[in-house]
Amino acid sequence: MIALSLAEVAQAVGAAVPHAGTATVTGVTLDSRAVGPGDLFVAVAGERVDGHDYLGDAAAAGAVAALTTRPGGPLPALVVDDTVAALGRLAAAVHARLADGDLVTVGITGSAGKTSTKDLLGQVLGAAGPTVSPPGSFNNDIGLPLTVLAADADTRFLVLEMGARGVGHIARLCAVARPDVGVVLNVGSAHLGEFGSADTIALAKGELVEALAETGTAVLNADDPRVAGMAPRTRARVVTTGRSAGADVRAADVTLDEAARARFTLVAGGERHPVALQVVGEHQVANALAAAAAAVAAGMTPAAAATALSAATARSRWRMEVTRRADGVTVVNDAYNANPESMRAALAAVAGMPATRRVAVLGGMAELGPTADAEHERLGRDAVAAGVDLLVAVGPEAAGLVTGAAAAGARSGETAVSVPDRAAAHQLLAEVLVPGDVVLVKASRSHGLEALAADLLDVGAGA
Ligand SMILES: Nc1ncnc2c1ncn2[C@@H]1O[C@H](COP(=O)(O)OP(=O)(O)OP(=O)(O)O)[C@@H](O)[C@H]1O
Ligand SMILES: [Mg+2]
Repeated sequence: MIALSLAEVAQAVGAAVPHAGTATVTGVTLDSRAVGPGDLFVAVAGERVDGHDYLGDAAAAGAVAALTTRPGGPLPALVVDDTVAALGRLAAAVHARLADGDLVTVGITGSAGKTSTKDLLGQVLGAAGPTVSPPGSFNNDIGLPLTVLAADADTRFLVLEMGARGVGHIARLCAVARPDVGVVLNVGSAHLGEFGSADTIALAKGELVEALAETGTAVLNADDPRVAGMAPRTRARVVTTGRSAGADVRAADVTLDEAARARFTLVAGGERHPVALQVVGEHQVANALAAAAAAVAAGMTPAAAATALSAATARSRWRMEVTRRADGVTVVNDAYNANPESMRAALAAVAGMPATRRVAVLGGMAELGPTADAEHERLGRDAVAAGVDLLVAVGPEAAGLVTGAAAAGARSGETAVSVPDRAAAHQLLAEVLVPGDVVLVKASRSHGLEALAADLLDVGAGA
């Protein structure tokens, strides 16, 4: 982060300068355990813990001041009504300063693939200059400002993931850091329960392109009608991506290798360049095209983007991590999260892998609202259609998968099985897995199925 005087920080957040405050702030953190000398400690009241209880720890670890909702305490206090909103104001002030220089900011949103695309783009832009694009999913009112604050005067590219759980959220994130390039990947059914309809999701995601200036670039997925339909909502130049022949940046001749990694020809700006992705699943083609288009908008050549895409690897955990066990069982850990689109993408990827038997160990998909039961049943049917030989539905929320699979011809209790929990799934799999099996593990975040994937890989201790 760029070093700021406490007075500058106070001005940015709209707080009075504390008497004792002449220090310089060189970092910002919310976690008292991560505080280092020179940090501003931001006290946030979460569901389980209240950061205000850790002011003493932060002081002991070298924090120079605290952003808090109440005066007093062991550190010079910058007192505000809402510390998360104040963190956003601080990031906005820093971003405005950096944007005056030659920083290029890219914002990425969509229902699925934001982190995957950010990770690809971060590596692509990293080949062209100093880039801030932290691994993980820092896409909300806390994560995005922290990402912005990680940039400094040397940073040339800043890649921001932008998530939304409602209308107005992305507009708020864009007010913290207005992107020069805005990427919209897709409109699916993630958080459909909160939004109510896919059209409302499109309304919310499109706030990203509404925030762009005339000089900016909107990168829109031509293959998703709701995303392509956002073009009239922006003043910026529009670049479309996709498989369709009319897309400005497109993939031709897509093939998958034995590990479900895509190869294709990147067609952009009248040029054609080969790309061989290292990340797994055909859905990564759409993410790679978005990354390529954003990189070109940020000043890279299509050739350099293609080369860097081919070198890019998975950066964030539990997204299509493919591991072959010593006994010849392959575990595909895609347990980071799940919604109907990402479940289908993962099933399609596994369908392309050579296997004597395909096993899908799937947990519930959260936050789908009233359509949840129907969506689970539909996915159960689709799993069978995608060539799943054994479906293991983990937990009561996922039971509809078995109903759907049975309707598509699976034998309930034999090739489509419901188990109560992770431990039961582990026990069943320990009994039935044989060399040559490919096992997909996936569920919504709240189910924590990455632990099951870890158990499956830890065969010595587990089986
Ligand atoms: N373009 C895509 N289309 C459909 N599914 C995708 C796409 N890209 C990734 N996925 C799937 O979605 C899952 C989540 O991917 P990723 O973490 O990149 O998404 P995200 O949008 O960042 O999610 P979140 O909203 O949880 O932050 C992956 O496990 C993968 O299976
Ligand atoms: Mg994410």
